[in-house]
Amino acid sequence: MNLEEIIRNRYTCKAYDESRKVTPDQKRQLMELLRLSPSSVNSQPWHFFVIDTPEGKAQILPAFSEANAAKIDKSALTVVFTTRTEIDEAHLNHLLAQEQQDGRFINDDAKSAQDTGRRYFVNLNSDSVEKQRNWMARQAYISLGFLLLGAAALGMDATPIEGFTPPAMDKALGLEEKGLTSVVVATVGFRGEGDFNTGLPKSRLPQSEVITLL
Ligand SMILES: Cc1cc2nc3c(=O)[nH]c(=O)nc-3n(C[C@H](O)[C@H](O)[C@H](O)COP(=O)(O)O)c2cc1C
Repeated sequence: MNLEEIIRNRYTCKAYDESRKVTPDQKRQLMELLRLSPSSVNSQPWHFFVIDTPEGKAQILPAFSEANAAKIDKSALTVVFTTRTEIDEAHLNHLLAQEQQDGRFINDDAKSAQDTGRRYFVNLNSDSVEKQRNWMARQAYISLGFLLLGAAALGMDATPIEGFTPPAMDKALGLEEKGLTSVVVATVGFRGEGDFNTGLPKSRLPQSEVITLL
C-alpha cells in the first residue's frame, strides 16, 4: 500500500479478533517506532509500557471502562504511553551522554551547544510543573501518531485511547514510584467481526476548512 492508501484505510478499530497475534518481528518494529519517535530537543521524556501478556492486561484493566476494556482484552498488544513527572538534571545529562555515545558531536563546542539549546527549550516550558508535564505529554502524543500510522503501514489495526482513568493507571503500573505518569493508551491488533467502525466511511472536515495554502 502507498501512503495515500494507508491513511485512507486506517481507522479506529472498535473490536479485535483475539485469535490474531502480532509476530515477534511486528512487535519489534512497533517498539522501534516508539523509541525512534521525534521529540522536542530530543528530550524523549517518555517511557512506553508494551503489554501483550494476560497478566499484563489484567494489571491495567481496572483503569478502563467496559467498552475500552474489551479492546485491551482482545487486541494483540497495548501500549501505555507515560512521561516523566519532571525533567531533571540527571535526565538532561543522560540524554547528552547518549547523543555523545551515538556520535552526534564533532567536538566539545557542538556538545555544549546542544546542551545549552536543550536546556533553553526545557526552561521555556517549565514555568510550572503543570506546564512542563503538558509539554512532555505533547511529545508523547507524537509517538502515538507514529504508532497509529506505523501500525497501519504494517497492516495492523489500532485504537488510540484517552478513555481511561490516569490515577488508576498510575496505580496499576506503580508509576509514581518510577517517576512516571500515564498520558494516553493505544491498542494494536487485527479487526474482528463485531467492529461496527470497519464499514463506516471516514469523516473529516473539508480541506478548504482545515488547510490554508499561502
Ligand atoms: C487522542 C485520541 C484519543 C482517543 N480516545 C478514544 C477512546 O478512548 N476510545 C475510542 O474508541 N476511540 C478513541 N479515539 C478515536 C477517535 O474517536 C477517532 O480517531 C476519530 O473519530 C477519527 O476516526 P478514525 O481514527 O477512525 O479515522 C481517540 C482518538 C485520539 C486521537
